[in-house]
Amino acid sequence: MPVASDEHSLSIGPNGPLLLQDHYLIEQMATFNRERIPERQPHAKGGGAFGVFRVTQDVSDFTRAAVFAPGTQTDVLIRFSTVAGERGSPDTWRDPRGFAVKFYTSEGNLDVVGNNTPVFFIRDPMKFQHFIRSQKRRAANNLRDHDMQWDFWTLSPESAHQVTWLMGDRGIPRTWRHMNGYSSHTYMWINAGGERFWVKYHFRTDQGVEFFTQDEGDQMAAVDTDYHQRDLYEHIEAGDFPSWTLHMQIMPFEDAKAYRFNPFDLTKVWPHGDYPLREVGRLTLNRNVTDYHTEMEQAAFEPNNLVPGTGLSPDKMLLARGFSYSDAHRARLGVNYRQIPVNRPRVEVNSYAKDGAMRVQNVTDPVYAPNSYGGPKAQAELTDDGGHWYADGEMVRAAYTLRPDDDDWGQAGTLVREVLDDAARRRLVSNIAGHLLNGVSEPVLVRAFEYWRNVDKDLGDQVEAQVRAKQEQGEKDPKAAGQGNPARSSMRAKA
Ligand code: HEM
Repeated sequence: MPVASDEHSLSIGPNGPLLLQDHYLIEQMATFNRERIPERQPHAKGGGAFGVFRVTQDVSDFTRAAVFAPGTQTDVLIRFSTVAGERGSPDTWRDPRGFAVKFYTSEGNLDVVGNNTPVFFIRDPMKFQHFIRSQKRRAANNLRDHDMQWDFWTLSPESAHQVTWLMGDRGIPRTWRHMNGYSSHTYMWINAGGERFWVKYHFRTDQGVEFFTQDEGDQMAAVDTDYHQRDLYEHIEAGDFPSWTLHMQIMPFEDAKAYRFNPFDLTKVWPHGDYPLREVGRLTLNRNVTDYHTEMEQAAFEPNNLVPGTGLSPDKMLLARGFSYSDAHRARLGVNYRQIPVNRPRVEVNSYAKDGAMRVQNVTDPVYAPNSYGGPKAQAELTDDGGHWYADGEMVRAAYTLRPDDDDWGQAGTLVREVLDDAARRRLVSNIAGHLLNGVSEPVLVRAFEYWRNVDKDLGDQVEAQVRAKQEQGEKDPKAAGQGNPARSSMRAKA
């Protein structure tokens, strides 16, 4: 029924009390009170767009997935994000960036839920919740706390490789268009003959990798908290469509057994010399979302969205993620989150799932299996069931078995010495020192110097020298105390 007014509530006389039968006023208040849904636990702040993925090379020797068949075009959705900040937090805080891709393939949805770094902080899912809490806010004062962050990292040496990426230039991408995306994990591909391969996805930006220095990032955080979101939206609106070229690293199935380090360890990269990048196709973003809430906030990415020809791997982190995301969606969006249009596959879905809150698609009989009434039937020949590998042994709680080149520091040291140039190394030292000078306690500081010396002796010495020099300077002249973020320290001095 048309409403009578969007300005005046119903009252007894112009100055009188309000009436309960003004259901339109009540509806206004009630729907407003329910506008917010829980934000994602990690990766709350983000944005993205729709686009298309076109296969340019023939990789049918390695996978039978239709989405990777030569010439195929598939609609995609991407969401970029920071990890630790809340929904309103600045886009240019130092953090890894989420790079989540949903391919709406002709065989159902395939999600690659990765980051802008090829490795991660930990290798056992038991530590994930603790890790994220250490990066978020303290219980007592609700403040983010660098002491807590470094306490966790220095007690978790496996974090060294990823923290080196994070403290380096990749920690503040200039825009979302100027960063790469990685599956980070090893996944499985299976070809038409049933042959299996271990693979890693690399989405390399065609715009080139660019970054903000710490100062630029701090200034942008003060000027425009939504800079990355705005940049992407405006470029797509203007028809300047960003693109990424998908390359894969492909390891024959048998190689994994004897490779010199565990190829399923998420804190390691596979050297390109051993497993070179092979081009697959190009992903282009060409359409902005028109309703952020329904198309971004309610988008549900999950690493267990796989299609025939793709599978998981024995990476313990990935296996845990196979449960965690759908559980997060059930909690955040409700049990029928897959019926929200942005999450619906573009092909017919046959399922025995029934009822639950917000089921909006009709279910038809029969509602059970086995049945003799023509209900959908399982088709083993059309699925790879997440990929198969051999496993046997006692039930244990243990770290991965060590191989000759398995250590926590080696690849981080190589990154510092062989990949970064002198200028990038200088920025790394200054970023680490600035971060450590933000409220890290003495015992944790000492551990942090040792942590960096384990990565690279020179690097650790330089970090310590810079921190000690700034501390001394601060004791002499507290106002000049270099606190990483110049804006923050000058505000503190004023206070
Ligand atoms: C988001 C769990 C490791 C990338 C999330 C969410 C959870 C979660 C619960 C929120 C999902 C939502 O509410 O929509 C975990 C667990 C991990 C893990 C338990 C390890 C055991 C990783 C790793 C990566 C990653 C290794 C990257 C390689 C992402 C991304 C998002 C996300 C990109 C945001 C997805 C989006 O844009 O909606 N994670 N995560 N996570 N995670 Fe993880």
